[in-house]
Amino acid sequence: MNIGLLGGSFDPFHKGHESLIKGALRSGIVDVVILIPSARNPFKRGRGVTAAPYRFYMVKDAVEADFKKDKVFVSDIEFTYSGTSFTLTTIREISKPSYIRTFLEANGIKSSDAKEKHSFFWITGSDVLPTFEKWREADKILELSGLLVASRPGDGVDVKEQVGRLNSLFKDKPDIRVFDVKGFEAASSQIRKNHDYVKVSKTVDEFIRTHNLYREDDLFDLVSDETIESYYENAIKLYRYLGQKRLLHTLNVGLLSLKYASVYDKNLCDRALIAGELHDCAKELDETLQREMAIEQSGDLFDEKKLLHSPAGAVLAQREFGVTDPGVIDAITYHTTGRGGMSLLEKIVYLADKLEPARTYADLSRERELAVTDIDAALRLCVGSTVNKIKSRGQDVHPLTLDFMNDIGIYG
Ligand SMILES: [Fe+2]
Ligand SMILES: [Fe+2]
Repeated sequence: MNIGLLGGSFDPFHKGHESLIKGALRSGIVDVVILIPSARNPFKRGRGVTAAPYRFYMVKDAVEADFKKDKVFVSDIEFTYSGTSFTLTTIREISKPSYIRTFLEANGIKSSDAKEKHSFFWITGSDVLPTFEKWREADKILELSGLLVASRPGDGVDVKEQVGRLNSLFKDKPDIRVFDVKGFEAASSQIRKNHDYVKVSKTVDEFIRTHNLYREDDLFDLVSDETIESYYENAIKLYRYLGQKRLLHTLNVGLLSLKYASVYDKNLCDRALIAGELHDCAKELDETLQREMAIEQSGDLFDEKKLLHSPAGAVLAQREFGVTDPGVIDAITYHTTGRGGMSLLEKIVYLADKLEPARTYADLSRERELAVTDIDAALRLCVGSTVNKIKSRGQDVHPLTLDFMNDIGIYG
């Protein structure tokens, strides 16, 4: 089988990518296309990039909605190894027979011959041809994979000439094929900057709006390089611990905590981002393990099943994510119950957890307005409705929550 590989940051996944995929399949040169959202793109690191899981699930949702009948799949291969995602590493990992066979089978493509050999083609635009030999380990890339080059009318590259040039430059004649792409071209950077969502599908548009992406990007300027690095790495690691919905929720809480910190105390930005990002990290661990970790952190203070993940998360954050800051650890520990004498950081994470953009359990517009002007007033509304829910289920309110209520002026 001929397999096309399309790597990229997909930030966002747009109609230009869609026309590339359709063109590659229409050419008949490849039978399937595998999209590989980058985890650690060597050329696009740092503040401007959306954390990898957002981009991965954006692509996945888009493919599930719009490429149902096509053989287009999404691979998380770049989440599975550490270090920078260079093209060669990605091709080497994805082309391993054990990986690709399992991957195709998981996507409903069964091979009658278990030893079937696949050919891989790295899909790229014709603009890379004039300098392709400068790619890191270009010769090794071409040993493992061919190139499937998209040629667009008027793209200013003499494709024939360039293919001839590369053929004579590399010892073993590389397998370079060309296909025509018509239709949409778009630049991700422009879409992000101008919020120009006519260039993305309805699914991607919805995804961007649900998670409020590309709106508060400059808040990252308030955070140190070291924290930014941890934030991106944590996001990749969280992929192992949480399913799509909860992972995106906890990332949203990180970004909203950063926003609230920027309003109330800019010195808290670094810690708010990390505490919010990690607050639910333990929520999908096995219950017995959560209980053990909760006891390690807080004795028997939290013995109810729903509360375990908070202290357990504090332990996991230290053990697996390298958190040492006691304020961050407390913010994670008390994010579900609250407590008396909450620090501003703890309040920020508590509130962001209730109000992150993907939360739709009620009309939260009043709470969201108050959250950026009067944090205690916003908390009174959020804690009040949480407590009402607990009471309506006939459950007891946790003593720590009673202290919290007392503190912020709710008397129930
Ligand atoms: Fe939680
Ligand atoms: Fe949460």
